[in-house]
Amino acid sequence: MTKRIGILTSGGDCAGLNAVIRAIVLHARGRYGWEVVGIREGTQGLLDRPPRAQTLGPDDATGLMLRLGGTILGTTNKGDPFAYPMADGTVVDRSNEVIAGVRALDLDAVIGIGGDGSFRILHRLARQGGFPLIGIPKTIDNDLGLTEMSIGYNTAVGVATEALDRLQPTAASHSRVMVLEVMGRDAGHIALAAGIAGGADVILIPEIPYRIAAIGAKIEDLKRTGRNFALVVAAEAVLTEEGQHKGVGGSSGGTIRYGGIGAYLAERIAQATGAETRVTVLGHVQRGSMPSWTDRMLASAFAVHAVDLIAVGKSGRMVAWSYRQVIDVPIEDAVAHFQAVDIDGPLVKTARGLGICLGDA
Ligand code: F6P
Repeated sequence: MTKRIGILTSGGDCAGLNAVIRAIVLHARGRYGWEVVGIREGTQGLLDRPPRAQTLGPDDATGLMLRLGGTILGTTNKGDPFAYPMADGTVVDRSNEVIAGVRALDLDAVIGIGGDGSFRILHRLARQGGFPLIGIPKTIDNDLGLTEMSIGYNTAVGVATEALDRLQPTAASHSRVMVLEVMGRDAGHIALAAGIAGGADVILIPEIPYRIAAIGAKIEDLKRTGRNFALVVAAEAVLTEEGQHKGVGGSSGGTIRYGGIGAYLAERIAQATGAETRVTVLGHVQRGSMPSWTDRMLASAFAVHAVDLIAVGKSGRMVAWSYRQVIDVPIEDAVAHFQAVDIDGPLVKTARGLGICLGDA
């Protein structure tokens, strides 16, 4: 039976989203002969009348899409339809308008490419509106439960690792301590993986409380071995020693916009050690990039599985990567399980085994 399925990208963009769209178009059209509709800017496009959407065809399934960063559909991390902020300052429930948008487009099912926040909203909408929904996990933060990897994470770690590769020679040339602040929201996955891959001396993640004195001691140790520089990676949600978050003002998807812990640490490390410090805030550079091969592969595998799930009448499932397989899990279970860094897990052990200071010793 022919179907008409919708795709939307929701929440912060990342590398690999267009690769997902491409693979959905290829598989849904090629294998099943379905029509594929791209919804513009997440649920925002479904609130407009007529809903903002475009039919996706062969031109959206080219090799270029594999390589292209961002999302051709646009996205938003604002405007929860259940608590929608109106121009006049009021907050209203517009969920039924979004559902009417799905009906107006005559969609048999929707594939949402998003993170935990987006999935909570989409899952609620799908249940309320009675339309089938399949989720594909994407987030550079890699904090979604029940999947070992989400799309965008691998590319973001690659960018952060390359930043360390570029900081090392300049740090060594000037005998400096370089502090690199990376994204990741409340999880330290990017900092930990990139810190290990990029040869950091100190890695600070929100999951492990630190002391400046411990970082100072590590830098003094390095000096004693003849090292004239140090590389420090800090996840954006690391607290100050006094236990405060550093924010840059405004909100990101309704929560605090992190930023500034790198500068704070650079100043404190300089005071504690007398070292000359510099700070680099990597920011959105980690999101926009040509996707890594891993993200392209993951995007393609997730998309094919998602389309197959719709074909067999499944709904409310999120595709996931687990032990070299693509599986699917209930969306509510995935979002209920925030995946922080496991402080007894293999990467923390690896970092400690390499003598990397995690700020707590
Ligand atoms: O969740 C992805 C992410 O890039 C976080 O790592 C970061 O804190 C946040 O989004 C930034 O959001 P915005 O694009 O709203 O600045």
